[in-house]
Amino acid sequence: MTVLGIETSCDETAAAVVTGEGRILANLILSQLDEHRPYGGVVPEIAARSHLDHIDRLVGEAMEQAGLAFADLDGVAVTAGPGLIGGVFVGVMTAKAIALAWELPFLAVNHLEGHALTARLGAALDFPYLLLLVSGGHCQLLAVEGVGRYRHLGGTIDDAVGEAFDKTAKLLGLGYPGGPAVERAATEGDPEAFGLPRPMLGRPGLDFSFSGLKTAVRHAAQGAGLLDNPEGDPQRRADLAAAFQAAVGDVLAERCTKALALFAERYAKAGPLVVAGGVAANRHLRARLDAVAASAGTRLLAPPPALCTDNAAMIAWAGVERLRLGLTDPLDFAARPRWPLEDLAARAAASPG
Ligand code: KG4
Ligand code: ZN
Repeated sequence: MTVLGIETSCDETAAAVVTGEGRILANLILSQLDEHRPYGGVVPEIAARSHLDHIDRLVGEAMEQAGLAFADLDGVAVTAGPGLIGGVFVGVMTAKAIALAWELPFLAVNHLEGHALTARLGAALDFPYLLLLVSGGHCQLLAVEGVGRYRHLGGTIDDAVGEAFDKTAKLLGLGYPGGPAVERAATEGDPEAFGLPRPMLGRPGLDFSFSGLKTAVRHAAQGAGLLDNPEGDPQRRADLAAAFQAAVGDVLAERCTKALALFAERYAKAGPLVVAGGVAANRHLRARLDAVAASAGTRLLAPPPALCTDNAAMIAWAGVERLRLGLTDPLDFAARPRWPLEDLAARAAASPG
């Protein structure tokens, strides 16, 4: 089985070809970073236009690299939401055109499901597993019971983790995108140099909150003369980045410890703990979660960093997983700007395939 995957939901134009055994035959990503950098964030109109300019060529290159013709494919998978709708449209129209022209099954993939299933791409991982999904727009703890079967255990009540990284980077003048910039700065910093809060720590339940931490970072930055000040002390800036990252690490570690206990109780299984989404590329956080999993007598499974941040291999793989179960979609499937993972369960149950 071979599936073409297309991803255009944010600021990466991506195309990939993946086999049923989880071999990645091509995985191309065209970042629009330089186009959005002057604005300090993603501009939806610029993103959509740029996807339109590049997607055809990128798909062609992916097919060439995979050494395949469209007729050799078994399906076309595309991110059909959630995301910036202009970009999602571009990907969906491209995928539908290919599916229609070559009479191939069409697979409308939920971007979050792409992240959620990536750990199964190229690694032995059975359902169920506990998933911490941390990206630019999401922060959720889920029990992954199967393809299309996600049970919400907890989530953020305000900002997503990636968003907190991005805002912290902006406050400290570390540039865009924020996550990798904060991680880089933090390697030179002393996490103890600033006292920051650990929101929700010790609270019942499995929810998260990051907006208070963001405000605390702003106050600390102001106090240290770092706010909107490119001339600020680089060591203090690194210290604050490290303190922020450590605070996030403490919160994620505590919530995951509790989630593993709950998961073990509900599913009579110790784990494993899987982390996915762009923030899962962070080495400090991976190390913290690795220790959490080990303490709970299980292991942490984290995709390689390049498969944590947005890519099309994860979309192609989710397509493989859905195609195997006969979960294909009609060509009139409408792109969705909002599409909670929990909605997939209802869709799977209603699917004729
Ligand atoms: O999954 P992703 O690529 O796109 C979304 O679906 O949102 O996640 C992007 C988010 C951004 O907020 C980015 O700053 C964050 O992931 N991120 C990181 C790192 N790399 C990306 N956060 C912390 N450390 C990183 N190394
Ligand atoms: Zn993503």
